Amino acid sequence: MNEHLKTNREFWDKLTEIHVSSKFYDVEGFKRGRCTLNPTTIEELGDVTGKSLLHLQCHFGMDTLSWARRGAFVTGVDFSEKAIEKARLLSEELDIPARFICSEISELPANLSQQFDIVFTSEGVKAWLPDLKVWAKVIAHFLKPGGTLYIHEFHPFMCVMDDEGGPDDPPRLRYAYFPSPKPMEFPAEDSGDYADPDAKVGKASCEWFHSFSEFINALIEADLRIEFLHEFDWCTYKACGFLRQGDDGLWRYPEAPETLPLMFSLKATRVF
Ligand SMILES: C[S@@+](CC[C@H](N)C(=O)[O-])C[C@H]1O[C@@H](n2cnc3c(N)ncnc32)[C@H](O)[C@@H]1O
Repeated sequence: MNEHLKTNREFWDKLTEIHVSSKFYDVEGFKRGRCTLNPTTIEELGDVTGKSLLHLQCHFGMDTLSWARRGAFVTGVDFSEKAIEKARLLSEELDIPARFICSEISELPANLSQQFDIVFTSEGVKAWLPDLKVWAKVIAHFLKPGGTLYIHEFHPFMCVMDDEGGPDDPPRLRYAYFPSPKPMEFPAEDSGDYADPDAKVGKASCEWFHSFSEFINALIEADLRIEFLHEFDWCTYKACGFLRQGDDGLWRYPEAPETLPLMFSLKATRVF
């Protein structure tokens, strides 16, 4: 694993500690039966009963276990040992059958041998991946022929916006749109994170920018047939200061509704 990925793994180990006790992730609510999946995701992916599902970058497993509660046979993968440890504990405590594997995405073919009906990944995954071509090939490798990939992710358009602006600031550009092999490095600071602004993270991290065309072409080159691409003017959390929460719990830009793409979903099929 290269130095950038090691840096990120330490960062995510720390974030996992913060997240499991955060209000944002509401683990107690999940234990009482709350489903952590977005209703759009549930509707678009459809019935998963009896299907084998591989969840990439599963964090500490609440989405993975939510799929299991809906009848899927689930395997969650993440490179953070702390996250996988917590996911296994939740599965055991709640008696929800699941398998969790600690692995970096590009190393997964060496750590798992099975093919799946569904590969699922969502909400904050692509910025941590140095090479989308490798990522797409890993997805194709784990899908059965005819199997489905479903992604629900932050829109590359939103990812160029300043995420530190205040509630009265208009949208402002801050980050690059086009990809570069060199990641943007964020120094270790005692600042908070998206789940707990008061937390002291104190760990460095690095993120890669990915354009929409890079993303789509990586899937095409991996022989995945795109079934749909949907763009949404809402986000599942307050990713930028200018977003406001609606009665449906989702975050939008109220000054210009229906103008900014904030998230997207994509479904694809492994053809061969
Ligand atoms: C933003 S979280 C995903 C969020 C998830 N949808 C949730 O809220 O539960 C990103 C996850 O990707 C994992 N991750 C980052 N880079 C990775 C890599 N190269 N290989 C495997 N997992 C990685 C992190 O450990 C983290 O759990």
